[in-house]
Formats: sequence, structure tokens, C-alpha cells
Amino acid sequence: MTILNGARITLGVSGGIAAYKAADLASKLVQSGATVDVLLTKGATEFIQPLTFQAITKQPVHVGVFEGWTETWHGHISLAHSTNALIIAPATANTIARLANGVAEDMIGAVALSTAAPLLIAPAMEHQMFHHPATQANLAMLRARGATIIGPETGRLASGEFGDGRLMPPEALLGALRQVLGRDGRLAGRRVVVSAGGTHEPIDPVRYIGNRSSGLMGYSLAQAALDAGATVTLVTGPTWLKPPYGAHVIQVETAMQMHGELLTACDGADILIMSAAVADFRPAVAHRSKIKKGSADEPAELALTRNPDILAALTIPGMLKIGFAAETDDLLANARSKMERKNLAMIVANDAVKTIGSDKSAATLLTPFEEPEALPLMDKEALAATIVDRIADLTGRPDR
Ligand code: CTP
Repeated sequence: MTILNGARITLGVSGGIAAYKAADLASKLVQSGATVDVLLTKGATEFIQPLTFQAITKQPVHVGVFEGWTETWHGHISLAHSTNALIIAPATANTIARLANGVAEDMIGAVALSTAAPLLIAPAMEHQMFHHPATQANLAMLRARGATIIGPETGRLASGEFGDGRLMPPEALLGALRQVLGRDGRLAGRRVVVSAGGTHEPIDPVRYIGNRSSGLMGYSLAQAALDAGATVTLVTGPTWLKPPYGAHVIQVETAMQMHGELLTACDGADILIMSAAVADFRPAVAHRSKIKKGSADEPAELALTRNPDILAALTIPGMLKIGFAAETDDLLANARSKMERKNLAMIVANDAVKTIGSDKSAATLLTPFEEPEALPLMDKEALAATIVDRIADLTGRPDR
């Protein structure tokens, strides 16, 4: 359940080769629980059939401004009033020019002029067209009026040439929509720092000590904070996960690097959510060269040294600290003592063996003054949204 669930999104598709990718975006929006109204320009219908979108969205698809008016359905006016966001993907140079100049001869232009909902534009075109001063001036004008411009990406274009003009991937378009829909959320205006993943502590250039953390909890928390309108910095250990769109991402490997980056990132932050599985120990010596079997460097034992406790050390006046406790024994007692020792506003306690590396978790939330809240087993995305909601309670922000 994300912020897209229950949202009404208008997807405008204009006539470029990337129009076929809009079908995937429509499908992903529907899968996220959004109601999707699709508008096609005449040009778009040269590339893709209205039926494709009708089948995906189970909604009528609109092409002409005067099509489908009834006594209760007033075409672009009804759509303009009911939509939560209007996203144009792909937006051709021609459609961008018409939007910039307020031309309302097609449904996209008419809805764009008559809606107060946010406008997102994902350009897709040839490199030269994108960089033409006319297109750049039109985009600048739209941006100045509050539109969000997403992309384009650099890469191989339909012509076979390499350049700027590829439609952004659907994950980025969904991420941008989430950010726009959440911008007045409960953490709007707050700066949130999230740490995620495990750290790698080098033994030599090819070996390290690590742990089973996937980073999923931290990445889900970063996304949930973005959904709630926060500005998010994600300080992350190595993981295969794709960071959420809109987060400022800082990659680190070791606990010492994470400590350094968090010190800088937390300067001026309102909230630190420390979900990283920081290694408590690192090899006392990180060898510069690969240790060879039988060499003088071959260790009989691996000497370890203590890493700093980052969460305990970071004390920034006014910054709320949220920690995690992954325990195998005495869950609540251990979590409470960590919360007190590290001066936390909240700690998320869970079973280390069941949680780390899993996509689900049954967590208990502890705060200094309230009864523990035992949450049912849920996926980490839902848990992250719940945690962020409780954090917003701690900041005193009312429900939306
Ligand atoms: N943490 C940290 N720096 C460390 C170790 C942990 O900032 N060197 C943070 C974790 O990100 C988490 C909280 O402290 O938010 C608790 O981590 P956990 O590993 O459960 O506890 P520890 O304090 O390391 O205690 P122990 O390993 O003895 O249980």
C-alpha cells in the first residue's frame, strides 16, 4: 500500500516512439492501486492503440476534446477536477511547446489548463530536438510555473544514435509521482537521514567481514519518508537495491565511512533513522595486498577492533534519533536499554534471525514514555510506512 493506492492519476501520452513504454507505466500505476485516466494525442494513436490502455486501466481512454461528453461527464473539466496529478509521458517537443503556450486543442492541453493538480512532464525525443533553444525555453517556462520535469535519460535513442532524450524508466516516473503526491505530507519540510544496509569491513582488498542485511528496511524507510514529504538523504552500505527516486544517496562500505558521512549528513537534519546493520568490529589490520596461503601474512587468528557506536555518538541538538534493535534473546529488555543508552526517541525491536535478510518483519515499537506497540508480521514496505507515521506523531504533526 503506497501513496499511489487510491490516487487518481491522469496519464497523457504524446506521439513519439516511446509511447509504447507508457503502457507499462499505466500497468504499474494500476498495480499500485491508482485509478488511471489516459489521454492520447492524435500522434500517439499512430504509435499505440487506445484499446491497449483501455484494457490495462479498465477506464475510457480520451483522444479528442469533444469525445464522450454526457450529462454527468464533462470531458476535460471532469477529469481536471478529479485528478490528483497529471503526468505526460512521453512528452514530445510538440506537446511541450503546446503546454508551454497554453494550447488546448487536444485533451492533454485542455486538462492541463483546467486543473489545479500538479503537472509532471517526462520528455522523450531526439537529442537535437531536446537541446533546441525552443524546447529548452518551453521547459524552463513550464518549470518556472511549477511543473516537475523528469529526465530525459542519456543513452541509445530510437534513431540509433547516442544522446539525451530517452524516456525515464517507469520506476523513476512512479517515484516522481510519489514525491509530488506526498509533498504536503506529515514530514513536509523535514530533513530526514536514513542509514541502510550492512557494512563491509575489509580483511584485504578482496575479502571482508559482512552481515546478512539486504538494506530493504532502510530503502523502504527512505521511500516512506519521501512519500511523507521529507527531504531524504540515504547513507547506504553495499546492496543490490535501487535507491528510491528523489533521495540523495551516499554510498559507503565500512562503518568508519558510514560514521563520517552521517556526521556531515546529520548537520541540520531533523530526524535520523538508523536502520543500518553496522559491524561492531573490524579487522585490526586491513592488509594492502591479498593474503596468500603460506605467506608470512597468513593469519592464525583474525584480530578485531571495535567500531564506534555511530548512533550513540551522533548527538545533534533537536534531532530525533530512531534506532533498531535486532536481538536473539530478551528482545524488549535489550531494546529498551539500547533506547536509553543511545538517547533514542523510538526503537524498532525485532527478532534478528527472522528479520535480517527477510522481506517481512514483526516489529515492536518502543518509545520512552508509551506502552510498547507490537505490530503484526508485515512486509517491510508496510512496516516502513507505519514507522514513518509514528515518527510524524513524535514530531507533533497532525494526521493529514
Ligand atoms: N548501531 C550503530 N553503530 C554501531 C552498532 C549499531 O549506530 N557500531 C546502531 C544500529 O544501526 C541500530 C542500533 O545501533 O540502530 C542498535 O544496533 P544493534 O546492533 O542491535 O546493537 P548494538 O548497540 O550493536 O549492541 P549489541 O550488538 O551488543 O546487541
